[in-house]
Parts: sequence; C-alpha cells; structure tokens
Amino acid sequence: MQETGRSLRVLITEREIQQRVRELAEAIDRDYPEGILYLVGVLKGAAIFLADLVRAVRRPVRLDFIGISSYGAAKTSSGEVRLTKDLDVSIAGAHVLVVEDIVDTGLTLRYLLRLLSSRQPRSLRVVALLDKRERRVCEVPVDYVGFVIPDQFVVGYGLDYAEDYRGLRDICVLE
Ligand code: IMP
Repeated sequence: MQETGRSLRVLITEREIQQRVRELAEAIDRDYPEGILYLVGVLKGAAIFLADLVRAVRRPVRLDFIGISSYGAAKTSSGEVRLTKDLDVSIAGAHVLVVEDIVDTGLTLRYLLRLLSSRQPRSLRVVALLDKRERRVCEVPVDYVGFVIPDQFVVGYGLDYAEDYRGLRDICVLE
C-alpha cells in the first residue's frame, strides 16, 4: 500500500481489530461492578478505538477526553509530556478506564495515571489497543491489552505519523 510516498504494510487487519475490540468489551463488561464508569479517551490517537469500544460494551458508560502532547512530527519519544486538554468533569468517586491507542515507552501513561489518581477516582485502570512492550522505559500497569506488537512504528485506526494516516482501517507498519 502506498500513501504520501511511504510504504505501508498491514500488521493487523480491520477484521482482527474488530474481533479483539469485542473481546476487550466482554472483559470490561464482566469485570466492572455497578456504578458510573468513565471511559477517558486519550486524544487524538485513541478516538477511533474509543468509538468502537463504547459501542461494543453493554454496561452503561460515560465518555470524556483528555489531551496529551506526544511525538509531534517525530517518530521517537521526546520524553516530554504536556496536558493539552483536561477532562470536562470530576472523576472523584467514579470508576475510570483510560482508553489509550498504544503504550510505547510508558511515559505518557505514567504522567496520565499520576494526574488522574490525584483526583480520587474509585478505581483507575487502562485499556490499550496496542502494547509495544519491548520499548518500555518505565513500568506502567496496563489492565487490558489488545495486541502486543514488535518495536515498529505503526499507523492507522487513529494512529498517525505527523497527523497523516489516522483514517486507515487496518493497523500498518510505516516503512
Ligand atoms: P509513550 O509515552 O512512549 O508510551 O508513547 C505514547 C504515545 O506515543 C501514544 O499515545 C502515541 O500517540 C505515540 N506513539 C507511540 N508509538 C507509536 C507508533 O508506533 N505509532 C504512532 N504513534 C505512536
């Protein structure tokens, strides 16, 4: 596949993603007790995953979004994390499930979990569609993982490279 001059190789197909999203939703439905559950999507990459996940879970949920600066136009982590959009609501006393597209070094998630846990949620967990485990520089808990992938830069299904490729239906390696 070819787009904006770079070559893309399909790593995870749309069909595989949809199947896995259904399985994650089933696990979430099983695990969570009664009470308000906020799905907190991390902008922008997790928007598409969140849209599919929220329609796959059966228990009632509420949505909110948080914005974190990530790599910008570079493919490697600067290690710098910045809040670009805060939640709209208080999460005190609520079950909170952070919805991430990918956990790479873990720096973004560590920042996010520290921030959210300071707001006294009833519980705080993470679902990440992709886990590039071998790149981790700090240990962060990821409660639900869609796919563990190798150390390759991927795009599609919400993930970008310099804001391109988010609309691809498959997850592809950018080569
Ligand atoms: P971390 O802080 O290194 O764990 O990086 C997390 C963020 O970096 C993700 O939410 C993505 O926005 C971005 N990222 C990491 N790896 C990739 C990738 O392979 N493709 C696209 N974005 C990535």
